[in-house]
Amino acid sequence: MKIAVYPGTFDPITNGHLDIIKRASQIFKRVIVAVSENPHKKPIFSMEERRQLIQDAVIDLDNVDVDVFDGLLVHYAQKKGISVLIRGLRVLSDFEYEFQMALMNRKLMPTLETIYFMPSEEFTYINSTIVKEVARLGGEIGCFLPPGVVKALHRKIKEIKK
Ligand code: COA
Repeated sequence: MKIAVYPGTFDPITNGHLDIIKRASQIFKRVIVAVSENPHKKPIFSMEERRQLIQDAVIDLDNVDVDVFDGLLVHYAQKKGISVLIRGLRVLSDFEYEFQMALMNRKLMPTLETIYFMPSEEFTYINSTIVKEVARLGGEIGCFLPPGVVKALHRKIKEIKK
């Protein structure tokens, strides 16, 4: 029974991420959702806010923990004794980036195996950016995000607009 890590920026966590987390939690002994910075992104939520939003969303999943990390994912995995890396594959356009990342991570840490989950089809077209855009422009986002995240996102957008 292995420990798996599900890394991402999670700015913020969506129901699509949650769908992957639930699937993984049924297969692995323990799943660590690990919040990281992607140098190509400018998140609106701080690392701690993102961690807390995920923590609230996975409260009913006993074998899921939430953590944050800096630096390389493989160093984090080595430190924590993690042997499985979970990623979600939604659409074909995810593939190229995922393929590159999986092979780089394998080169850096050959014992870390990347495993892909497909979310339910209702979540294949969402990502955090598009949900934030819909929210900013006043659209309905309740079906894309856990309830606590909907509130937090509305609050954050108000703060930003001030
Ligand atoms: N449902 C909904 N949205 C999903 C999703 C799902 N199941 N799976 C992914 N997404 C979205 C995310 O919300 C994100 O949206 P955004 O671009 O609008 O923010 C997008 O798809 C892709 O994000 P994600 O898959 O979470 O990747 P990421 O860019 O957020 O995270 C890291 C990438 C953090 C895993 C990667 O940068 C990393 O490993 N960093 C550590 C440093 C390192 O080791 N670098 C070397 C890597 S080889």
